[in-house]
Amino acid sequence: MKVLVTGGAGYIGSHTVVLLIEAGYEVLVFDNFCNASRESIRRVEKIINKPIEVVEGDIRNREDLRAVFEKHKIDAVIHFAGLKAVGESVELPLKYYDNNVNGSAVLCEVMAEYNCKSIIFSSSATVYGDPHTTPILENFPLFATNPYGRSKLMVEEILRDVYVSDNEWKIVLLRYFNPVGAHASGTIGEDPNGIPNNLMPFIAQTAVGKREYLSVFGDDYDTKDGTGVRDYIHVVDLAKGHLNALERLENFSEVMTVNLGAGKGYSVLEMVTAFEKASGKKVPYKIASRRAGDIATCFADPSYAKELLGWEATLGIDEMCRDGWHWQSQNPSGYNI
Ligand code: NAD
Ligand code: UFG
Repeated sequence: MKVLVTGGAGYIGSHTVVLLIEAGYEVLVFDNFCNASRESIRRVEKIINKPIEVVEGDIRNREDLRAVFEKHKIDAVIHFAGLKAVGESVELPLKYYDNNVNGSAVLCEVMAEYNCKSIIFSSSATVYGDPHTTPILENFPLFATNPYGRSKLMVEEILRDVYVSDNEWKIVLLRYFNPVGAHASGTIGEDPNGIPNNLMPFIAQTAVGKREYLSVFGDDYDTKDGTGVRDYIHVVDLAKGHLNALERLENFSEVMTVNLGAGKGYSVLEMVTAFEKASGKKVPYKIASRRAGDIATCFADPSYAKELLGWEATLGIDEMCRDGWHWQSQNPSGYNI
């Protein structure tokens, strides 16, 4: 079975490619490298000890995609390609709608042209907005608080419409909670551009001495210690969820929407403590004001993933911090070696 992985050079994509190849799938990575390095591909090749097929192309470009489908018989697509910076999406909404929404529509169009109708899409817990209660179930109301989130909601809707128009499609929408950590080898991991927006890479860069201190965005939320609570999930567990979805795809007779989270909420300060323990380094922090658009608490009810996909998170906060530290300490400048 040959799987096209859009965005396969990125953080979650690269980890998924490793598992796919280890499980015996044929893989073709399609990426425009707007937020990834060729070095991630070389590292993946080192882990699996063989070359991988990579096509540099843009999901918005029909000809780039057609060239792939002309040359290869693709059985399914795992669609990671997209832009993901919430703040940038507020500044540049059209860039996000073009890349994420238009790009996904073009991808589906070309897939249909070549009779490839199986797709797993990277959605996000951000589609729940500020949930009225936690844990979050898949049938909770959907609401976007920024253009990035709206782009994910729009693609979910587009894929549902595609299914209504043609029931031969097999579609899974995976709503990720907060992916963190890295491959156990420490050779691939998250390599954000510039100053990290997300908590884990910021903590890791502080521990390694690249940042002076972490700003904790708010300590007056209605949570256990006043800091924001999230459902952190090890990226390798997350990657496994895609394999489980792929194995079961053919049995699905409607669009499946599934939360991929560990189902546990940890506060910012709990993450700091866990990272200090795993790294043996101090993570200095200062309390700062709340970040606009943040919510107090977000964690999944992951029971549907278990029921439908036979999947659950197996790696806990200690493994997330251990592997995140392993990657950061071995690659203090990420892939810019
Ligand atoms: P990433 O930026 O590391 O990976 C995305 C990849 O897509 C990059 O390699 C980038 O170069 C590529 N890409 C972007 N636009 C493209 C285009 N037009 N054509 C071809 N390639 C393109 O991000 P990630 O963290 O691995 O996220 C993967 C997916 O999961 C994204 O769709 C993201 O929105 C979604 N997601 C991520 C998180 C998270 O916190 N990391 C949470 C929820 C959902
Ligand atoms: N935080 C800090 N300091 C920082 C960074 C983050 O205190 O420097 C706090 C935030 O306020 C929040 C928690 O750490 O309470 C987690 O923040 P992240 O930015 O790591 O993650 P978010 O939950 O805000 O958002 C992430 C992705 C979104 C995605 C969402 C749900 O960035 O794209 O998870 O999947 F939509």
